[in-house]
Amino acid sequence: MSEEEPPEAGDLRDPLAEAVPERVAESEPSPAEPFAPPPPRATSAALALLGCVVLVLGVVALLLVRSGGPPPTPEERARQPLNPLPKAPPTGLAATGAPLYEARCASCHGAHADGGAGPSLRARRVALSPDAVIAAVVAEGRPGMPAVTLSAEDEARLIAYLRYLQGL
Ligand code: HEC
Repeated sequence: MSEEEPPEAGDLRDPLAEAVPERVAESEPSPAEPFAPPPPRATSAALALLGCVVLVLGVVALLLVRSGGPPPTPEERARQPLNPLPKAPPTGLAATGAPLYEARCASCHGAHADGGAGPSLRARRVALSPDAVIAAVVAEGRPGMPAVTLSAEDEARLIAYLRYLQGL
């Protein structure tokens, strides 16, 4: 004879009776799962993005301040001097061209060719022009600039002095 224990009370329970509370539990809002999206995450993402934008703007502003404003246009750059004015006095051929420049050019282009009524002759635009182009401007003149006829020797002296003023 087997001594079977009487079945536990639980075994006799109607399966349906157990299912009911489960179904009720499904429909109940669970306090462990909040339905609202977690606001701290969204806020920190926005703050990180703002931080990046501020950083980029700061770097751009710093670069602009250090470079002294926006970069010059090619036209502005052409008018900037190529080199600083030399500190040592001119020598050789350039020294002989100085009186020619002072007598015939300085009144309009300035004592150091930095410009006056006429444009700067220390500008990159002129400093990077070949001798023949400068000689042609002098020989032919320009609007507001009289033509000047020079001997080949004086032309070489004058241009040597201009090259000196241009720091070349
Ligand atoms: C009466 C004033 C005057 C005198 C004197 C004068 N210039 Fe000029 N020069 C000007 C003016 C104004 C211009 C600009 C003309 C133009 O806009 O095309 C100019 C332009 C030039 C240019 C061209 C510059 C450029 O950017 O294109 C050169 C080079 C030049 N002069 C050299 C000389 C030299 C060298 C002498 C002396 C022999 C001289 N000039 C004497 C008024 C003068």
